[in-house]
Amino acid sequence: MLNVAIIGTGGIAPLHIKGYLTFKEDVNIVALCDIYPEKAEKMASDFDLDVSVYDNHEELLANETVDLVSVCTPPYVHAEIAINAMKAGAHAVVEKPMAASLKECDDMNRVSEETGKTLSIISQNRFTNPMMKLKTLLDEKVIGKVLHTQVDSFWWRGHNYYDLWWRGTWEKEGGGCTLNHAVHHLDIFKWLNGMPDEVTAVMSNVAHDNAEVEDISIAIGKYKDGGLATLTSSVVHHGEDQQLIFQGEEGRISAPFKVSAMAAQGNGFPKENTEKMEAITKRYEELDDLAYEGHTGQLNNVIQSLIGHEDLVVDGYQGKQTLELIMAIYSASQAGQKVDLPIDSSHPFYTKEGVMANVPRFYEKSGSVENFEEGEITT
Ligand SMILES: NC(=O)c1ccc[n+]([C@@H]2O[C@H](COP(=O)([O-])OP(=O)(O)OC[C@H]3O[C@@H](n4cnc5c(N)ncnc54)[C@H](O)[C@@H]3O)[C@@H](O)[C@H]2O)c1
Repeated sequence: MLNVAIIGTGGIAPLHIKGYLTFKEDVNIVALCDIYPEKAEKMASDFDLDVSVYDNHEELLANETVDLVSVCTPPYVHAEIAINAMKAGAHAVVEKPMAASLKECDDMNRVSEETGKTLSIISQNRFTNPMMKLKTLLDEKVIGKVLHTQVDSFWWRGHNYYDLWWRGTWEKEGGGCTLNHAVHHLDIFKWLNGMPDEVTAVMSNVAHDNAEVEDISIAIGKYKDGGLATLTSSVVHHGEDQQLIFQGEEGRISAPFKVSAMAAQGNGFPKENTEKMEAITKRYEELDDLAYEGHTGQLNNVIQSLIGHEDLVVDGYQGKQTLELIMAIYSASQAGQKVDLPIDSSHPFYTKEGVMANVPRFYEKSGSVENFEEGEITT
């Protein structure tokens, strides 16, 4: 039985709690922690949990025997809390984005190696049927060489979203929609298609004049083989019509799932390649559904990897690589020129100080709400 603690009991924590409660035979939630302990008390009561409540994670780690910690705090304290948890002997599951800088990611990965403790970064949308099936199809090269990938990480957040005290600043949120929203799609994009070799980008803040950070960015990734990717990150898109489209030499597949394939007529104009489309659709449909999706699916993978039944799907090195792509987008936007990947430790966007010194402040952060009234969140 693994003893679990959850640090940070705000919007995302219930998805961790629900996930752990699905696996009661393997895990037991023993403690919750929040700098507003009344929030942790309320969450314990809402889920009818028999747990200790703390207002300080170090005290929790000193007083409890914990095997696994979920870090559900704002990004600027992810590294500190995850490192303290691993040093105290616990494995760590850290909410996205992994940390505030690539240097912090290195520190987390180093401590994971030194302590032998597992470090996993939440990317729960990998654990959905469309994404897992797309991964299989792309690994099987059903559309041949990928020529163009279109990532539409379209979200919508109201003006008041950035009034929460830690949101909307480079210091505490670490970035805008590219970091905090598109992180999901950018992680999946490079998991499915690999990291591009260079990035160019522009970013802007078009609808949130209460935030320092960007609310839209458009980047182009280029691969050594010539393939291109257009990566749009936004919190200004009504309808949140998100999609990842892969255009290959032999066809097109996407999440949400749709397939199309063309063949050339004698004059070079297209006709439908129905045989190819049917073959891809048949393969997609014969793939098994996942037992669990979303946070529950990823937490299941972490638990199964800890008890030796599965390989860990998202580790700290992949978490860092996603942040590296995001920092490349920020750096390319700021400098107005392409950034080569990978980014090395001398790059100005490698450290938090470097990011803080170089990023644009679109607006001054104005609001500072301590806690919102309850409301649904979308993930
Ligand atoms: N995976 C997803 O789809 C998804 C969705 C939303 C948020 N998130 C991520 O989850 C994290 C938290 O976001 P949220 O929306 O739940 O924010 P939130 O503000 O609703 O909750 C964060 C909680 O952490 C507490 N906290 C802050 N500093 C702390 C500290 N040092 N020690 C203990 N508690 C502390 C806050 O008081 C708050 O209750 C962020 O990294 C965010 O990007 C992930």
